[in-house]
Amino acid sequence: MVTSTGTLPSLLLGTLLTFTSGALGANPGLVVRITDQGLEYVAQEELLALQSKLHKVTLPDFNGDVRIKHFGSVDYRFHRRLDGSFDVKVKGITISVNLLLDSEPSGRPKVAVSSCSSHIRDVEVHISGDLGWLLNLFHNQIESRFRRVLESKICEIIEDSVTSELQPYLQTLPVTTEIDHLAGLDYSLMGAPQATAQMLDVMFKGEIFSRDDRFPVAFLAPVMNLPEEHSRMVYFAISDYAFNTASLVYHKAGFLNFTITDDVIPPDSSIRLNTKSFRAFVPRIARLYPNTNLELQGAVISAPCLNFSPGNLSTAAQMEIEAFVLLPNSVKEPVFRLSVATNVSAMLTFNTSKITGFLEPGKIQVELKESKVGRFNVELLEALLNYYLLNNFYPKVNDKLAEGFPLPLLRKIQLYDPILQIHKDFLFLGTNVRYLRV
Ligand SMILES: *[C@@H]1O[C@H](CO)[C@@H](O)[C@H](O)[C@H]1NC(C)=O
Ligand SMILES: *[C@@H]1O[C@H](CO)[C@@H](O)[C@H](O)[C@H]1NC(C)=O
Ligand SMILES: *[C@@H]1O[C@H](CO)[C@@H](O)[C@H](O)[C@H]1NC(C)=O
Ligand SMILES: *[C@@H]1O[C@H](CO)[C@@H](O)[C@H](O)[C@H]1NC(C)=O
Repeated sequence: MVTSTGTLPSLLLGTLLTFTSGALGANPGLVVRITDQGLEYVAQEELLALQSKLHKVTLPDFNGDVRIKHFGSVDYRFHRRLDGSFDVKVKGITISVNLLLDSEPSGRPKVAVSSCSSHIRDVEVHISGDLGWLLNLFHNQIESRFRRVLESKICEIIEDSVTSELQPYLQTLPVTTEIDHLAGLDYSLMGAPQATAQMLDVMFKGEIFSRDDRFPVAFLAPVMNLPEEHSRMVYFAISDYAFNTASLVYHKAGFLNFTITDDVIPPDSSIRLNTKSFRAFVPRIARLYPNTNLELQGAVISAPCLNFSPGNLSTAAQMEIEAFVLLPNSVKEPVFRLSVATNVSAMLTFNTSKITGFLEPGKIQVELKESKVGRFNVELLEALLNYYLLNNFYPKVNDKLAEGFPLPLLRKIQLYDPILQIHKDFLFLGTNVRYLRV
């Protein structure tokens, strides 16, 4: 039995990360920062795993000979079938590992141990059993032998964990993930991570793309000037690029197009979407199309851009609404066209593994752009549009935003103590993490 009694503080793990230079290219849409605290936590967790592996270490048989004064030479063979038992106490393990991180052409991370050394301050061996008294005579030699064997075992375990567990695990990390039936998120690495004394920054593409038909994005991700914060273990910087590429996808898919017909107007409303209701302020419409229902077809003109400014998040939507009279035989005849402008403030919240959003609509401004039924005051329509947008359009968009933006998290990781900041062009989310043990 090998008893490792090194408590955590006496176990030191120095992990040095070195990187091969990555290709220079576009700016990332997403940066994951692991701080020294985060790395320390990971190192401690790894040590616990290492400790439990050390408990199960099978020592190789070893033998040697010892010269004892006035006694000559003693040969010993120390192997697992030795009669009796022995306890080994290990104190003060220092491990120094150099990890080489890089990204593969597939956009996945690659890790290798470039060097490893370990040092054990003290090993105590206590042997019992029939031959115990004899072996205890030269336990110094046995202990130093044990120390060397254990020291090389530690690095063997670490190298083996990296090549047979960590690297294959990294190979399974998705480079893209599905958001819904329309959109996917591209998480591929953009070059090797960057390290400073306090943190390690990993750059991801962070682009949301159409799953049906991925089209090239016509704008670039902005440069993110990340704050030097490192009070949390992990930070995520999410560029407006991620949100604005999402906006493109949903806009192109027609998600922001809407149709308003009379049956979505509440039954108790005095304004109906028919020509009779419009008679008072657009007399010609009722004369030309008596007792006819109308349909409003709305579209957000261009994909709305989210504006990130310190502490603030907003977007502006410019919509165009075309009104049709619904004639027999499903004929729709255009009668007027409106433009609708609104400023929308956005709120973001953070929910265990996702960033979720919520839009708070502002007042709308409606303007008549074109009319085949004469000019008219749009105030009445404004109330109707407001009703529709507040009760149908925004709830639909907010439901989508509530589904959230998934963060690239490893399995079995829980987040706590999150902080969320809005900077120019990006969101900055810091959090502590905890491994979930099953
Ligand atoms: C959305 O509406 C606009 C304007 O009516 C139209 O040009 C566009 O094709 C629609 N998009 C989809 C995907 O239906
Ligand atoms: C947030 O942005 C909106 C739109 O740009 C602006 O009207 C508002 O004053 C801003 N709020 C703060 C706190 O900066
Ligand atoms: C939206 O905000 C801009 C800038 O603050 C302002 O000029 C514009 O009038 C606002 N539009 C609406 C519809 O409130
Ligand atoms: C987090 O989001 C998920 C999915 O949107 C939801 O089911 C869950 O209730 C949310 N949790 C909290 C704490 O809001």
